[in-house]
Amino acid sequence: MQPARYTKTAIVLHWLVAFLIFGAFPIGLIMSDMSLSPLKLKLFSYHKWLGVTVFILAVARLAWRATHVPPLLPGTMPVWQQRAAQGVHHVLYLLLFLIPLSGWLMSSAKGVQTVYFGVLPLPDLVGKDKALGHLLQVVHETLNYGMLALVIVHIAAALKHQYVDRNGVLARMVPFIEKETSK
Ligand code: HEM
Ligand code: HEM
Repeated sequence: MQPARYTKTAIVLHWLVAFLIFGAFPIGLIMSDMSLSPLKLKLFSYHKWLGVTVFILAVARLAWRATHVPPLLPGTMPVWQQRAAQGVHHVLYLLLFLIPLSGWLMSSAKGVQTVYFGVLPLPDLVGKDKALGHLLQVVHETLNYGMLALVIVHIAAALKHQYVDRNGVLARMVPFIEKETSK
C-alpha cells in the first residue's frame, strides 16, 4: 500500500540535497567569473566538496527510492500533472548524478585532482586533456542550467499545489505545514 507522506529519511535527504545545491550553484557561478586568487581556489574546493556530497546523498536517495514506494498523488490531480511531476522527479534524480559526475570528470580532464574535504583524494576519472576539459565544462554548465529550469518548474508546481489547489502535496515534503493546510 502507498503511504500518505514521505518518510523522515526521504524528507531530510530531500532538503539536505536542496540546500547543498542552493549553495553549490551560486558558488559555481561566482568562482568561475573571478580572476585567479587564493579566494577563488578556496571557493573551487568548497564547490567541489558540496558537489561530491550531493553525489553521495544522491546515492542514498536512490537507495531509499529503490526500497520505498513514494506516497500516492491526490486523486484530484489531473493525470497529465501526475505524469509531469513524476517525469520532472526522474530527470532531477538523473541530474543529481550527472552534474557532480560531469564536474568530477571536468576537474580530472583539466588536471586538477578533487581532494574531498582536503583529505580524501578522489581518483582522476580521465587523463589530462585540455579539449575534453573544455567540452566537459560546457556539459557541466548546460546540465546546471537545465536543472535550474526544472527546479523553478518544480518549486512553482509545489507552491501552486499549496496555495491554489490546496491539495496538501507540499505538506508531504514539509511536515510542519501539514496540520494547517492539508485536507
Ligand atoms: C550538484 C552539484 C553541483 C552543482 C549544482 C554545480 C554547479 C556549478 C555551476 C553553476 C558552475 C558555473 C558554471 C558556469 O556558468 O561557468 C560550476 C562550475 C564548476 N564546477 Fe560545479 N557543480 C556541482 C558539482 C561539481 C563537482 C562535484 C565538481 C568537481 C568535483 C565541480 C566542479 C566545477 C568546476 C571546476 C567549475 C568551474 C569551471 C571553470 O570555470 O573552470 N562541480 N558548477
Ligand atoms: C535543488 C532543489 C530541489 C531538488 C533537486 C528537488 C528534487 C526533488 C525530487 C527528486 C523529488 C521526488 C522525490 C521522490 O519521490 O523520491 C522531490 C519531491 C518534492 N519536492 Fe523537491 N527538490 C528541490 C527543491 C524543492 C523545493 C524548494 C520545494 C518547495 C518549494 C520542493 C518541494 C517538493 C515536494 C512538495 C515534493 C513531493 C512531491 C510529491 O509528493 O510528489 N522541492 N523533489
